[in-house]
Amino acid sequence: MVGPKRHFLPLILISLAVFIFYNFHHSSLPPSFPESNPTFPNPIRSPNFTFVIKVLAFNRLAALSRCLRSLAAADYLSDRVHLHIHIDHFVSDNSSHLDPKLLEARRILDFVDGFHWIFGDKVVHYRTANVGLQAQWLEAWWPTSEHHFAFVVEDDLEVSSLYYVFVKTLIFNFYYNASNYSPSIFGVSLQRPRFVPGKHGNKLQLDDKTRLFLYQLVGTWGQILFPKPWKEFRLWYDEKKAKGNRPFLEGMVTTGWYKKMGERIWTPWFIKFIQSRGYFNIYTNLLHDRALSVSHRDAGVNYGKTVGPDSNLLEERSLDLNLLEMQPLRSLKWFDFCFREVHPGKVVSSLKELGSWLSSLQKRDSFLLVNLFGVSDAVARNLLCHFERLDIRNYILMGPPSASLFDLARRGHPVIDVDKFISSVGLHKFTSQGSNFEAIKGILAKTYVIKKCIENRYSVWVMDGSMLLTSNLLSQSEAPNDDFFVANNLELFYAKSSFSSQKIWVDGFVSKVVVTAESLTGKDSSTHDRLSFVYIVTKLLEQNGARIRKVDESSYGAKIGSGSVSESSIRDKKLVYWSTEMELDSIQKWLGELNLWSIDTDMSCTAVVCHES
Ligand SMILES: *[C@@H]1O[C@H](CO)[C@@H](O)[C@H](O)[C@H]1NC(C)=O
Ligand SMILES: *[C@@H]1O[C@H](CO)[C@@H](O)[C@H](O)[C@H]1NC(C)=O
Ligand SMILES: *[C@@H]1O[C@H](CO)[C@@H](O)[C@H](O)[C@H]1NC(C)=O
Repeated sequence: MVGPKRHFLPLILISLAVFIFYNFHHSSLPPSFPESNPTFPNPIRSPNFTFVIKVLAFNRLAALSRCLRSLAAADYLSDRVHLHIHIDHFVSDNSSHLDPKLLEARRILDFVDGFHWIFGDKVVHYRTANVGLQAQWLEAWWPTSEHHFAFVVEDDLEVSSLYYVFVKTLIFNFYYNASNYSPSIFGVSLQRPRFVPGKHGNKLQLDDKTRLFLYQLVGTWGQILFPKPWKEFRLWYDEKKAKGNRPFLEGMVTTGWYKKMGERIWTPWFIKFIQSRGYFNIYTNLLHDRALSVSHRDAGVNYGKTVGPDSNLLEERSLDLNLLEMQPLRSLKWFDFCFREVHPGKVVSSLKELGSWLSSLQKRDSFLLVNLFGVSDAVARNLLCHFERLDIRNYILMGPPSASLFDLARRGHPVIDVDKFISSVGLHKFTSQGSNFEAIKGILAKTYVIKKCIENRYSVWVMDGSMLLTSNLLSQSEAPNDDFFVANNLELFYAKSSFSSQKIWVDGFVSKVVVTAESLTGKDSSTHDRLSFVYIVTKLLEQNGARIRKVDESSYGAKIGSGSVSESSIRDKKLVYWSTEMELDSIQKWLGELNLWSIDTDMSCTAVVCHES
């Protein structure tokens, strides 16, 4: 195995931190893991990374020899590339068929011993007992630096001679180029993208123009793993396994596989991990069922009998596209487990950005703004799971800048950085800290977002994170007829896109909100009630003669936290809400009883819910 060079070992004793950040294999500057250093990567002109091929073999000599021959026939550009072959042992539970098994194992070892690998080290790991595919994968690799990449290859695969040139170009572009780097990317799959796990394994549909794209699903037929996410996965798996958790993810076809195959396969664990972190894999779309790695789908753990190759190998002679052309990361499309396009990293920090983001939306009628100020991460994540269930897609979250807000953006939920947004409209004085400031910033941000939405012909709903929708307010049937709509005592507000609402919600009106908000800064907590957005704008709208419909909050939503609420009593309600003072534990308990707590201990959705697009 590749390990730290001996003369660096004293460093380990001096400082573990230095050890982690040190780049064992390079004489260049010590780079750090991408996430811990926002200026990563250093302008390395020619990164000297280590590439290890991990072949997972068992008892299929013919397949293994085809696989190794294809690997040896690839162009490695004079780079050193190591080959590690992990041979699982046969199952020793039936004494009557031992001899043929022993013979086959011997033939495989003889073949591997005689196999010439001229590009780097060849290491053979022959197991003493059968461990199965899950341990073969999981134990194949522990990266020893952030410049180690593993290419995991099951023995019934065959690779194109072009694969390494492609992978190297890709690593240069998406790992070592700061402007194209994303901490959310866990690797590269060389197989043909095939199915959508959230849609019963349906065939994946993609346009012919896309060459590279990002997709959450791991590919087991030729997967390149990036070091940091793989290490994170191993640690996560350890914890989950030790605590007796199981990788169930409702709505995913892979969960069915797990229920059938259990610990014989590893992908359900990895898929669950990827969902909890919001990570993505790079895939190619090489057209005509072509790929840089194909599976012959020989009989084994995954197939009862041989099925034959899943796609065609792309080789030089049939090359009709520029394989090495790499687009910038920002122009690639990202897809989730439903193969629904997502837009990670959308942080809106000005009115202008909001406008261009609104005009990029596919569905253009109504829109939902969610205020996350004072809302715990778990409650926000639970709310987002319900948006997925209800197929609410036109939403934006707003909150003060924080690591958790930006993490939601990284996962594909658009956010507004309220501080920057308020500054962008010239209200710098409100961005200072202090009592009431957060609430006042929220009021101002909502007022401006509504203005922009109405101007862009969107009807807009505004809600606080201390409520949970149980119906899709954005659907046509839910739209109120009036220009404005409020439910008493709830921070829920609706403004219709109409000529008359636009005539009211103009600069003059916005200024009045600002003046009112200003008069509330620094006031003590007795003004708490009046710090309500709905309270302030309802009053101002009424003064301006606007048409507002008001409903009783109890006819619209069900309050939790006291008395009794049941699943049947909330059936005809649009939402569930609670006091902002309520503790997280109680919120979770109450929502749990109503079957509305939909996140696990990693704060990720317990289900993947796909809708027709
Ligand atoms: C790259 O690293 C290898 C060891 O991993 C070392 O032998 C080689 O000299 C390095 N090459 C350069 C150009 O730094
Ligand atoms: C061993 O395997 C053979 C053939 O697969 C089977 O017929 C036999 O019952 C097995 N014996 C035991 C003890 O499992
Ligand atoms: C890094 O990526 C950007 C965006 O794709 C590109 O313009 C730039 O040339 C790349 N830098 C290098 C050194 O390749």
